[in-house]
Amino acid sequence: MQNRVALVTGGIGGIGTAICIELAKGGAKVAANYYPSDSELAKEWQAKMKADGFDVMVVPGDVTNIESCQAMIAQVEQELGSVDILINNAGITRDGTFKKMSAEQWNAVIDTNLNSVYNVTAQVWNGMLDRGYGRIVNISSVNGQKGQFGQANYSAAKAGIYGITKALAQEGAAKGVTVNSISPGYIGTEMVMAIPENVREKIVAQIPVGRLGQPSEIGRAVVFLAGEEAGFITGSNLAINGGQHMF
Ligand code: CAA
Ligand code: NAP
Repeated sequence: MQNRVALVTGGIGGIGTAICIELAKGGAKVAANYYPSDSELAKEWQAKMKADGFDVMVVPGDVTNIESCQAMIAQVEQELGSVDILINNAGITRDGTFKKMSAEQWNAVIDTNLNSVYNVTAQVWNGMLDRGYGRIVNISSVNGQKGQFGQANYSAAKAGIYGITKALAQEGAAKGVTVNSISPGYIGTEMVMAIPENVREKIVAQIPVGRLGQPSEIGRAVVFLAGEEAGFITGSNLAINGGQHMF
């Protein structure tokens, strides 16, 4: 992926950071998207990445807002060039039993985790088709595959990702554009650390490997699917969950 331009949404988060590092190690020119109000955090993140030897562009953009996504892509194109690799990674949780789930909780998760995939992908898709090359990796979740108590919103959004992945895989196949998903299990980032400890312990007890996953274990898989050599892999899903769910 030498000199390919890669954009990672939610790039300064737990899994996003690992994805940026692995893409940069692979030789890509990487842009990490951050939520606009996180600009101070993004500057600190960028400085730390630089100190660790990774030169990564940071770019604001609210993935729930299409105009914001248009501005984000324009900025990446201006600084780095056309986007060859898109990792749709930004996501949130608003957990609660369905009995208590508000419309705000439902809509926030559908907007951030599913509508975002449209909002960002639509900005780069035609260019990828025209240039005859593209790699898109959508980050879903084990909970999109199996459903999760307390996550009707999140499970629905993450399951929706499989639909768009497989439809776009068909539309992009003859044009050199591959579209795949990765479904991480429970990975030790802030998102999982926000689960009450007693509940989290019960979840870890259900993971045959006996631990949470590490962000780098997702980052390496992203690079595999985003590589030029992965041109025959499209419309597929890679489950990385320590054996928690086999499908
Ligand atoms: N299956 C069956 N019943 C369950 C259950 C489960 N998995 N979890 C909880 N319950 C039951 C409880 O036993 C309790 O029953 P009683 O009322 O009879 O005592 C009832 O549901 C309410 O449970 P809580 O006291 O936990 O209710 P709460 O309202 O305080 O919290 C919850 C509910 C928010 C769903 C909480 O249980 C929770 O946070 N669960 C974890 C959800 C989860 O896995 N989120 C993943 C976040 S990380 C992520 O999303 C990343 C990724 O992709 C993997
Ligand atoms: P994280 O550390 O919270 O990172 C998510 C990032 O997305 C954060 O930087 C967040 O910014 C950003 N974001 C949220 N809303 C956004 C928006 N509207 N526009 C732009 N950026 C936004 O979580 P993570 O664990 O790395 O999760 C990354 C992805 O992996 C998510 O899609 C998640 O659903 C998925 N996933 C995670 C796990 C896991 O166990 N951790 C498992 C399966 C799948 P803020 O910090 O400002 O909100």
